[in-house]
Amino acid sequence: MHIRTASMSDLVALTAIEAACFPAAEAATEQDFAKRLAVYPDHFWLLEQDGEIVSFVNGMVTDEADLRDEMYTDASLHDPNGAWQMIFGVNTLPKYRRQGFAEQVLRRVIADAKAQGRKGCVLTCKEQLVHYYGKLGFENEGMSGSTHGGVVWYAMRLTF
Ligand SMILES: CC(C)(COP(=O)(O)OP(=O)(O)OC[C@H]1O[C@@H](n2cnc3c(N)ncnc32)[C@H](O)[C@@H]1OP(=O)(O)O)[C@@H](O)C(=O)NCCC(=O)NCCS
Repeated sequence: MHIRTASMSDLVALTAIEAACFPAAEAATEQDFAKRLAVYPDHFWLLEQDGEIVSFVNGMVTDEADLRDEMYTDASLHDPNGAWQMIFGVNTLPKYRRQGFAEQVLRRVIADAKAQGRKGCVLTCKEQLVHYYGKLGFENEGMSGSTHGGVVWYAMRLTF
């Protein structure tokens, strides 16, 4: 088990994992990932087991306190000196779920964001995952304004 950051060479693998984890209306596309990997490959955290990526997290950094939908597609909004580490996607391939892989990646994201002097981490999630992120210290700020994928998202924040 090993967690590393990404490079453009991970593009195809990450797009395939995302498609296996999210409905098409919510999944980041290969084009989205290409833009993100060109700007902030160090804000992808990939967990590998036996050379296979089984789980990953990614998201930009910004001084904006709240996650908004434009951030998913506009990588130019990334500010390397920003205050908040956004978390756009948390993915574990179906056959590797419920073994704590996503938690391990999220704990690394949180540790790295702390070490980089950020104020904290921000994500949006569906209602059924509010308790999961709550266990990691995220506080539920209620329904976000997101219309991503046409479903309801809750805003959650972990302030250091
Ligand atoms: C959400 C998701 C990333 C979780 O990935 P995961 O690697 O299975 O996450 P974890 O193993 O850390 O935790 C998942 C559950 O397994 C449990 N678990 C962790 N280790 C376990 C173990 N060894 N044995 C049994 N259960 C375990 C956790 O307690 C958690 O249960 P809970 O929801 O009741 O708290 C994954 O299900 C996924 O990719 N879903 C589709 C995409 C998605 O919805 N992402 C989140 C968007 S906000």
